[in-house]
Amino acid sequence: MNNLLKGKKGIIFGALNDKSIAWEAALKCHEQGATFVLTNAPIAMRMGEINKLAETCGNAKVIPCDVSKTEDMENLIAQSMEILGGKIDFILHSVGMSLNIRKGKDYTDIDYKFMHDTLDISAISFHRLMQTVYKMDAINEWGSIVGLTYIGAQRVFPDYHEMGDAKSLLESYARSFGYRFGKEKNVRVNTISQSPTMTTAGSGVKGFGDFFDYAAALSPLGNASAEDCANYCVLMFSDLSKKVTMQNLFHDGGFSFTGFSYDVFKMMENK
Ligand SMILES: NC(=O)c1ccc[n+]([C@@H]2O[C@H](COP(=O)([O-])OP(=O)(O)OC[C@H]3O[C@@H](n4cnc5c(N)ncnc54)[C@H](O)[C@@H]3O)[C@@H](O)[C@H]2O)c1
Repeated sequence: MNNLLKGKKGIIFGALNDKSIAWEAALKCHEQGATFVLTNAPIAMRMGEINKLAETCGNAKVIPCDVSKTEDMENLIAQSMEILGGKIDFILHSVGMSLNIRKGKDYTDIDYKFMHDTLDISAISFHRLMQTVYKMDAINEWGSIVGLTYIGAQRVFPDYHEMGDAKSLLESYARSFGYRFGKEKNVRVNTISQSPTMTTAGSGVKGFGDFFDYAAALSPLGNASAEDCANYCVLMFSDLSKKVTMQNLFHDGGFSFTGFSYDVFKMMENK
């Protein structure tokens, strides 16, 4: 099916390289007829990878934005409306980073300055984004805002560390802001809880390869890829999901509701 997003205007955060979930999402949104602005932290743009993606997506404009800075966010939203010629219809927040994980600090030996930055970049930025859009009246009725999350928000995956806390907060913002956006502007807000995916952020988590295999073996449909996630984002931005809001949507091949699988047994025997 084509043209699910024909005439829709969006903003896509977080395409770092061709492994990024946001990268795939941009390709799929373009394929489905959307026009959009791409954005990432200024430092992440140094390699210039995002410009290649922009070219492939009908010469999309690229605007730098450090999500922890309100002025960057305001500038991004204002410029996007100018470039796209009006209010926005969809936004993908595909941003995450943990300084304590990066610096190898254990969960029982947290550096709180790092933790503040983790929460700010990975979760509070979702609120900052929504508040900016709300105040600037920058989103059309029946618009859709999606944030990406992980089941580490509900269950303990020890090496997921403080990101589990950040994702809990992110998901809570989807509900709290989703209520207000729904009531006042008919805009929906959801989070998609994605399978482990081989990306730069994903592979930064200790033991990620083993965990990726474990999740694949436990999930009856196997892990959802970045491309699968991109397709789900398209659905959530399209008019086919108009009444879905304030939800955390598991997109994980069934992992979240599976208690046991012989495939996991076999995998362990082989190790
Ligand atoms: N990879 C996985 O296993 C997995 C699973 C579930 C959810 N997710 C979530 O998906 C989203 C995208 O991650 P990904 O796996 O595609 O990895 P990725 O590394 O490709 O994307 C993370 C992005 O966050 C951006 N970012 C970091 N700090 C920023 C800042 N201050 N301002 C603006 N942008 C900033 C990075 O530049 C990068 O583009 C994240 O929210 C992540 O937590 C990932």
